[in-house]
Parts: sequence; C-alpha cells; structure tokens
Amino acid sequence: MNGLNFVLAKKSRGEKIAMLTAYDYSMAVLLEKSGVDIILVGDSLANVVLGLDSTVQVGMEVMLHHTRAVLRGAIQTPVVADMPFEAYQPEGADALFHARRFMDIGCAAVKVEWFGRCLDVVELLVKAGVPVVGHIGLTPQTAEQLGGFKVQGRDAASAEAIKEQAMSLERAGCLALVLECVPETLAQAITRGLKIPTIGIGAGKHCDGQVLVVHDLLGFNNRKVPKFAKKYADLGAVIETAARQYTQEVKTGEFPGQEHSFR
Ligand code: KIV
Repeated sequence: MNGLNFVLAKKSRGEKIAMLTAYDYSMAVLLEKSGVDIILVGDSLANVVLGLDSTVQVGMEVMLHHTRAVLRGAIQTPVVADMPFEAYQPEGADALFHARRFMDIGCAAVKVEWFGRCLDVVELLVKAGVPVVGHIGLTPQTAEQLGGFKVQGRDAASAEAIKEQAMSLERAGCLALVLECVPETLAQAITRGLKIPTIGIGAGKHCDGQVLVVHDLLGFNNRKVPKFAKKYADLGAVIETAARQYTQEVKTGEFPGQEHSFR
C-alpha cells in the first residue's frame, strides 16, 4: 500500500497533484502507466458505471467490489476510496468500521464529503489512524440540501462557511481536501490559507491539484458532462464505431477470418 503523505511535500514544493477516478482493473492499469499521482474510486461510479441517478444509491458492498478491482491494477499508485453515504452519514459511529474495510484491502485513504456531523466523523477516523481526504463545496451526496448541482460559495456568507469548513477539516486532521464547484477566487483563498493540499474539480487553476471523473476526460460519459470537465479523447465515438463495424462484419461473414480461426 502506498501512502498519501507525499501530497504535503508536493504542496510545499509547489508541485501540482493529478488525481483521476477509476472503477475497474483495466482502467487502473492504464492510469498507473500514465503517471497520475492518485486514483480515486469515486462513488460517481453510481452515475457513470451503474447508470443510477444519485451517488447515494451506491453502498459499501458495491464500493468494495470496485475498489478491489482497482487495487489489483494500481500496484504503485495510491488509491483513495470514497466512503459511500450509507457508511457514515446516517450513523457517524459506523464510519470507522467501514473505513477500516477500505484500509484493510489496501487503500491509502478514504474520502468523506462535508455534512452536518462531518467533523465528528473525521476526528473519529483520524484518531484511529485512518488517513482522510475531505470534500467540500458541491457535495453530491447532499446536493439536494445545497439547492442541486450548482456552484457553491458564490455569496459572501456561503463562501465564508466553506472557508470555515476547510479550516476545520485541516484542524481535524484531513490530509487533503477536494474542492468541488466553487469560484476560482474562493478556491485560491482556501488553498493559500491551508497547509494541506486542495484538489479542485470545477474550482479553477489555483488549487494544489486537480481531479476529474475519468469517463468525462475520455469522452466516455453518456450523460451530461459538467462544464468544468475537459474532454481529452472521444472514446465514446471510438467504441461505437468499433462495435458497429464488428456487427456489420459478423452479419456479412467477414468476421471471423482465417486468422481468427483454428485449423
Ligand atoms: O465521486 C467522485 O468521483 C468524486 C470526484 C468527482 C471528486 O467525488
């Protein structure tokens, strides 16, 4: 298991941190080859892999199943697992039991989203020696309470509240913070004010690192892609074209050819 302590050194050297999500073995192997610093098994797998509407719909068993697959492919790269809603939000005391299940299979840390009793949960985990990444700004598990999937911290009061959350999570022992969908200037102020690194998604360029959902980056997301995601490839089109060609060749008898057959 590779730890996450290197992120603090990266921040102090001014080196950016690159994190991407993965949900299976093959993707983890490729991301590791790419040199990405951290792989996140995000509960976004609810949306991009399972076709569900909300991340709240994935639970521990599904997260563990995908995290194990990612860990088989990510030999050197630290893997962070998202704590699913059911593991800590209804009952904070369950958090340690579930976090340990991720740590026991080889994760470097768990990620928890901000909610009313977030600090209690983080303190519980940190005291027990579990490395924790916090997640503030737009927190999809409680997006309804935030008025939906919108940029957070646009007015002075909510910006102040998010800054407070950031500082309290650092004090509680988080080793990094994901900042999702907040104005660039707010992310910059938070990043400057913290010793621990910020990893932005829709939070502008001043964060200490960036994270994207890998399906968005690859053009492999059949759903609405957020404005902040940059598409580096069009894998969706590549897959569709390949599958169409295969279907045609099966129908015309062109596939399988002699070279794909045994004599
Ligand atoms: O679930 C996820 O993929 C995440 C990232 C978007 C940060 O939490």
